[in-house]
Amino acid sequence: MDDRFNTAAGWVLFSGIVALGASIVSGMVFHADDHEFPEGEEFGYFVEAAEEEGGADAGPDLGTLLANADASAGEAVFAKCTACHTIEQGGASGIGPNLYGVMGSAIGAHAAGFAYSSALAEKGGSWTWENMDDWLQSPRGFASGTKMSFAGLSDPEDRANVMEYLASFGGAPAKPEPAAPEPEVDGDAPGAGPGPTEGVPAEAPEAAGAMSADQPVPSSNAATSTDGATKVGD
Ligand code: HEC
Repeated sequence: MDDRFNTAAGWVLFSGIVALGASIVSGMVFHADDHEFPEGEEFGYFVEAAEEEGGADAGPDLGTLLANADASAGEAVFAKCTACHTIEQGGASGIGPNLYGVMGSAIGAHAAGFAYSSALAEKGGSWTWENMDDWLQSPRGFASGTKMSFAGLSDPEDRANVMEYLASFGGAPAKPEPAAPEPEVDGDAPGAGPGPTEGVPAEAPEAAGAMSADQPVPSSNAATSTDGATKVGD
């Protein structure tokens, strides 16, 4: 009986201490009495940061996209363009100009006889892959006042594929190079192996534990630890 009572009393005391400790710790961590930072504000900031991460700069660069572009996938995308454009050599201009050989040609001057808007005709430059990518992403963003009433292709892969398709009718200038891949960080530089045993304080063998106290690792072995599996004495 006595023993049981002592055990029970011990647990009650112990849980009281734990509860007190927990309330002190949570008070420190969560600033229970400090209402300067409402939860909502911090949460809102979090969402914003997450959105930025997946923003416009995410994903492969244009050179990489073009290296993997596929003209037949681009032909399917071009179905969105055929209401206004033909692509065959000598094809008629419709609502939009014929597009044969448009890649690399002067912007807004390519189809003879087509009445371009001054926004596009006065843009200057030529249809490089970069310019075409910008134009197809947002025609109005590229040439405000253009009469191409097309919202744009938001998917970078769609744009790369349809450009590849355009290029297959009459050629194109050189593609931009894919961005160099990140150099791989190589961990095994010569001599980078584990050094002599560290972190075992010599004056505290008990704390280090019986194993390491009984079996100190000689530094000569540690340096060749990757060869540990090879047979000894062969
Ligand atoms: C609703 C009709 C319409 C659609 C759909 C359309 N375009 Fe156009 N496009 C035009 C018109 C109109 C122009 C001329 C714009 C100007 O003069 O401002 C044009 C111009 C262009 C030019 C510039 C040509 C040059 O000679 O400089 C390219 C390239 C082009 N379109 C590609 C496309 C592609 C690719 C698509 C499909 C993803 C597409 N367009 C969808 C109407 C359209």
